[in-house]
Amino acid sequence: MKKYIFIILCLNYTFNAHGNSADPASLWDKNAQLPGQKQCYIIHEKEVCFSDGNRKNIYSLPKEELKNLIHEGAKYVLNYPVNVTRLRLPKETMENFFQSDTNSALRRFIFKIAKKLTNFKSFNDIFSWLGLHHYPKTAQERGPNLIADMGELNQYHMGVSEFSNHHQKSMSFSCAACHSSNLFGVKVLGLTNRFPKANEAFILGKKVLKNTPTFIFKTVANPSPHDLDVFKEAKEAISFVGVKKPLVLGLDTSLAQVGLSLALREKDEYATMKYPKRNRHPLHYIPADSKPAVWWNLKYKTKWLSDASIISGNPVHTNFLWNEIGRGVDLYELEDWLIDNHQKVQALTAYVFHTEAPRYNDFFPQKIDITKAKRGEKLFLNNCKGCHGIYEKNWSRPDATELSYEQKLENHKVWYHSQTKTINVGTDSHRRKGMKYFADDLNRLKISQTIGTVVTPQRGYTPPPLIGIWARWPYFHNNSVPSLYEVLTPDFKRVKTYIAVDAHDKEKDFDQIKNGYPSPNKIRKKYRTDKDYFFNSAKKGLSNKGHTSMLLDEHGEEKFSHQEKLEIIEFLKTL
Ligand code: HEC
Ligand code: HEC
Repeated sequence: MKKYIFIILCLNYTFNAHGNSADPASLWDKNAQLPGQKQCYIIHEKEVCFSDGNRKNIYSLPKEELKNLIHEGAKYVLNYPVNVTRLRLPKETMENFFQSDTNSALRRFIFKIAKKLTNFKSFNDIFSWLGLHHYPKTAQERGPNLIADMGELNQYHMGVSEFSNHHQKSMSFSCAACHSSNLFGVKVLGLTNRFPKANEAFILGKKVLKNTPTFIFKTVANPSPHDLDVFKEAKEAISFVGVKKPLVLGLDTSLAQVGLSLALREKDEYATMKYPKRNRHPLHYIPADSKPAVWWNLKYKTKWLSDASIISGNPVHTNFLWNEIGRGVDLYELEDWLIDNHQKVQALTAYVFHTEAPRYNDFFPQKIDITKAKRGEKLFLNNCKGCHGIYEKNWSRPDATELSYEQKLENHKVWYHSQTKTINVGTDSHRRKGMKYFADDLNRLKISQTIGTVVTPQRGYTPPPLIGIWARWPYFHNNSVPSLYEVLTPDFKRVKTYIAVDAHDKEKDFDQIKNGYPSPNKIRKKYRTDKDYFFNSAKKGLSNKGHTSMLLDEHGEEKFSHQEKLEIIEFLKTL
């Protein structure tokens, strides 16, 4: 008997551990745990187990190897590597379009079907509209995470990808379109893009492609054979893409896009694309919007998405799958690509797990009052740690007196749930319920099984690790709360509406006391008068309710005074 076990173990080893092939299965198993020491507590009569390790170096590589892999991954973050993707823009034809005079046949035609497009005078006009950010130009503009030098791509915005085919080019979007941000002039990869418009781009693309017969494109645009192929492929792919407008600027409907796109396909295990199926799918009328997550939390997690409904599988694998279903990919081709390009998936995985949060003190030097933050720490440990983990600070180390101000602020150690938890604190339920409308369609796919992705709808959301929380306003998965101060205020007293603004100016666009958006009367006029930036929590899917019981005492009264809230915020700024 022992001998058989030994053989099985060996087989397992050769399948999982040789060279650059598949990831070790244990990394992504549904029972995976964080490394390090483990401690369990009883909090509110429930056992909670924390580990003090993290998975920043997800493949446990030696230093040099890790560095090389991250350098490679940094390129794929910015330049989307999946070359079997079918929704691409024909570059040369688009350039001709921009250069054509306002009265050309092409412009007149485009004007008829998508007026908005005619306003664009260059690629960069489109990319600005899309909410993408420029590459950093100076050392000061570089955030904590490596932004690779992308050569010619640097002339565009971060998130713009290019594919070459015999010197002919087509374009698409990468992870950075939704997962990079401009924080007071500093470019941070892995931070949520505050105002992404990727979903609107799909809506616009669908409108143009649907209403432009191939022969018209050929006549009015006069494309090269390469560009004609790109157009035809995109036109076919988009008919299997289900699009949806986000509820408000700042949220994203990628999840609905995946569900709606799958619903257009056949129900077999490769979701074959025959003829787009007509359907009245619930995701057409029920919202499930959420914001792109930050990446630096991944190292503390074992399950993925805001509700931890992806209970297994490499999250980057899953992302490629989801991104591509939402772009009308042929799943046979994608499956082959994922197997053949495992090195690329690993490089991107190593990168995202290795990302770090921007630090408050780098933006507002010497502004954190450590004595006040220590008072906040006590309140945090008494009220928040059971869900959000423990952040041991350097200021509590025995040798703290020898440390500089900056060193004292650093986390010494983070204890977070050994296995990612989902907890229902009564926040808006639409996003998490959204999963149930397409979990079966996803789990059925052969490719989901190949990469080990399993979706299990959940009854709450993950209390996220609070690292870099200061930079993550507005708060909650649906952006429904404008500042940390309001997160710490019970829902019946929370502000119901707010106005969003780009994080350009530290003084004007950020309330340093409440940590979040300034109150509406202080918002710059351009944003105040544009209804796109107005957030109304009364809308279905945008509720700001929940996360309140922990803020109340046994009489149902508010637990924290104004001063105590500011102390907790002072502590949170150091995380
Ligand atoms: C169109 C916008 C968009 C693009 C492009 C995009 N993402 Fe995301 N991403 C999201 C959204 C939205 C979520 C959060 C969904 C949720 O949990 O509700 C997310 C979540 C994630 C998560 C899960 C984080 C966690 O804490 O569990 C990872 C990892 C991730 N994205 C990686 C990537 C990678 C890698 C790429 C490129 C291959 C990518 N994303 C491209 C929008 C996007
Ligand atoms: C019972 C568990 C629980 C307790 C206790 C708790 N939280 Fe939370 N917290 C959550 C959950 C779950 C979410 C995610 C809600 C969502 O996104 O819909 C959350 C979200 C947050 C967020 C927003 C995170 C983001 O990325 O937008 C902050 C900030 C926060 N909590 C701070 C605190 C503080 C400070 C305390 C203590 C006063 C606390 N929480 C106590 C469960 C808890």
